[in-house]
Amino acid sequence: MSPRHADRLDRLAPYMFAELERKIQEKRDAGIDVISLGIGDPDLPTPDVVIEELRRAVGRGETHQYPSNRGRQVFRDAITSFYDHRFNVKLDADTQVLPVLGGKEGIFHICQVLLNVGDVALGTDPGYPVYTSGPLLTDAEPFLLPITPENDFKPDLASIPADILARSKLLFLNYPNNPTGAVIEEGDTFFEEVVQFAKDNDIVVVHDNAYSEISFDGYRAPSFLSTPGAMDIGVEMFSLSKAWNMTGWRVGACVGNTEVVQAFWKYKTNVDSGMFDAVQLAAAKALTEARDFPDQMSTIYQRRRDLVIDALRAIGLEPNAPKGSIYVWARVPEGQTSAEFAQLVLDEANVVVSPGASFGAAGEGFVRISLSTPDDRLKEAISRIEDSMRVTA
Ligand SMILES: Cc1ncc(COP(=O)(O)O)c(C=O)c1O
Repeated sequence: MSPRHADRLDRLAPYMFAELERKIQEKRDAGIDVISLGIGDPDLPTPDVVIEELRRAVGRGETHQYPSNRGRQVFRDAITSFYDHRFNVKLDADTQVLPVLGGKEGIFHICQVLLNVGDVALGTDPGYPVYTSGPLLTDAEPFLLPITPENDFKPDLASIPADILARSKLLFLNYPNNPTGAVIEEGDTFFEEVVQFAKDNDIVVVHDNAYSEISFDGYRAPSFLSTPGAMDIGVEMFSLSKAWNMTGWRVGACVGNTEVVQAFWKYKTNVDSGMFDAVQLAAAKALTEARDFPDQMSTIYQRRRDLVIDALRAIGLEPNAPKGSIYVWARVPEGQTSAEFAQLVLDEANVVVSPGASFGAAGEGFVRISLSTPDDRLKEAISRIEDSMRVTA
């Protein structure tokens, strides 16, 4: 008898970290000390001011009732003032800001808001897996554009076949990028091209802004919405997860084009009952009173990045040092697939790295190393990799 679930679930690839987690568990069950550089989940604590505000807010009975899907004024104002301060992007707090329960929830559910059955959602390969699973679970079709060193990790929008383009309604982008660490440099005209492309083809751009606040070497990532015309065709998913060490809190916002934000709000009134008010109040503190916190985190990640880059160079690899995100994207040695290299590292060094191919076929030949591991463990992982690779070389 076939299992009792909808056909659309069968279209999904297994969640890539499920396989990693299984392998780690197997080793740990055997008493082996495995260090995971697989998942991008900050190891450091949420800022004190945010935790204190949560404690205070939880003590207030008024936060215990159903929140509004629109979000608290103080939360929407905090997002708005942060966007103004950081990106010089002017948002209307009443109509252009919607709380989402993390960027992931926003990315997934916006597919339901924007896509009809059979529509196409454009994304990148490699890319965050929800750009694929979101459309698939909406009975729409993902179409992935390769991002590789050859195209400077920017998709070639002119390469989309005409029949696909005619059905495309949505384009997912993400800079600073997971998994490649690619960024939009000052003077890069890619976002301008994207705005023109979206206008010409009646496509909504959803820019996933999960990593804008983690950047290195003096680089500052722009918001897509600061591109002229972007507010006409796009929204951005902003998240506090990575930069304020709040992955467990599930807090972010969909901001930008009024029509899209309002459609999303209408949809969400039927899906969830908003974000816990105490979390909104605490997140507002992060955005107003801990604005510099992401810079402190960036300093730490930059130090870790340099450790990883030096070690990879020492074993003969030639990684590029990313200017943003919390990942190093490195080519694997000649003659090995990304899965073979990741397996070798796990077997020989008991260190987990993510095979590039698990982020899409164009990620073949690379591995992703996450920097969200305490310095001492990261150093230990690196020296284990160096030792084992010297032995195998
Ligand atoms: C590119 C990208 N987008 C979105 C997310 C989701 O983040 P959250 O749901 O915690 O905001 C992640 C998390 O790893 C990510 O890497």
